[in-house]
Amino acid sequence: MTHYIGVDIGGTNIVCGLLDEQLELLGKVKKPTGAANGVDYVLDLIASMIDELLAGQGLSRADLGAVGMGNPGFIDPERGISLSSANLKWHNEPISDKLGGRLGGIPVFIDNDVRMYTYGEAARGAGRGFKHVMGVTLGTGIAAAMINDGQLYYGSGFLAGELGHVPLDGETALCGCGLRGCLETIASATGIARIARERLERGEPSVLAEWFPGEQRSAITAADISRAYDQGDALARDVLDFVGRNLAKGLAWAIALWSPDVIVIGGGAANAGERLFAPMREALEPLVLPMYRDRLVIKTAEMNDDAGVVGSAAFAKARAGA
Ligand code: BGC
Repeated sequence: MTHYIGVDIGGTNIVCGLLDEQLELLGKVKKPTGAANGVDYVLDLIASMIDELLAGQGLSRADLGAVGMGNPGFIDPERGISLSSANLKWHNEPISDKLGGRLGGIPVFIDNDVRMYTYGEAARGAGRGFKHVMGVTLGTGIAAAMINDGQLYYGSGFLAGELGHVPLDGETALCGCGLRGCLETIASATGIARIARERLERGEPSVLAEWFPGEQRSAITAADISRAYDQGDALARDVLDFVGRNLAKGLAWAIALWSPDVIVIGGGAANAGERLFAPMREALEPLVLPMYRDRLVIKTAEMNDDAGVVGSAAFAKARAGA
């Protein structure tokens, strides 16, 4: 029986899964990406994660049909090249060949991480049963992807969907992509933590200042803001309100352009749930025409880590023609 591997490379963690021919997940491993160590380190790590998964099921590389991999960044899926990645700092890296070489020639198909996540959520998760599925992730970075009738939308140069790099009025923070004031600098998990830190530095009162005194402030994550919110913390509430309102601005553009039936929001910062989505929905009302709004459902992702893994494996199976 042929097996498939799905890999989801995040700015922070890599999740790697082994799937059987019916794309049922047999096992999964998760490790820190360690992107600062460079592309070869990351690809060696992925090859070792794949071997670990295979060994765990008593299988070998000969049992693999293909490997699929979602990458954070601009990807050329036809040539298997990572063109540019704001968060991994990879430029024109022939990822498919490099990983395929490490695996003894097994075909490796790569695409953008959010496309693979959307592919997974559309097939098995919150997008199931909808014709026009838009996926968005709020993780280390932000992007969107669109699937119409099962077909991913790529745009010219495979560049469609980079919602994280659209500008927000009045925002000036430097984004990993080199532009300033991008939605990603505000509504990503890293953006949320940054905004809270900057407000603490300005001396605004918050329980976060007690939890993270002095230098420890740099360790604040988006999850800590939610924790503070639940204690009734005004700064945390204000930050998530601000982020939710700005997220609505980004989504309003995407809704007008793509008219999805469903938007599936995932990624680490989506764990804030209604703390973030309530202000986002409120802000979205006056920004989107009822014609779109009335037919649109906004849901949170259902598959967590599995969406990117299952989506990548399904994509690889389809590309391998199996
Ligand atoms: C990148 C996208 C990626 C997203 C999520 C953004 O910074 O430009 O390509 O999909 O982060 O990882």
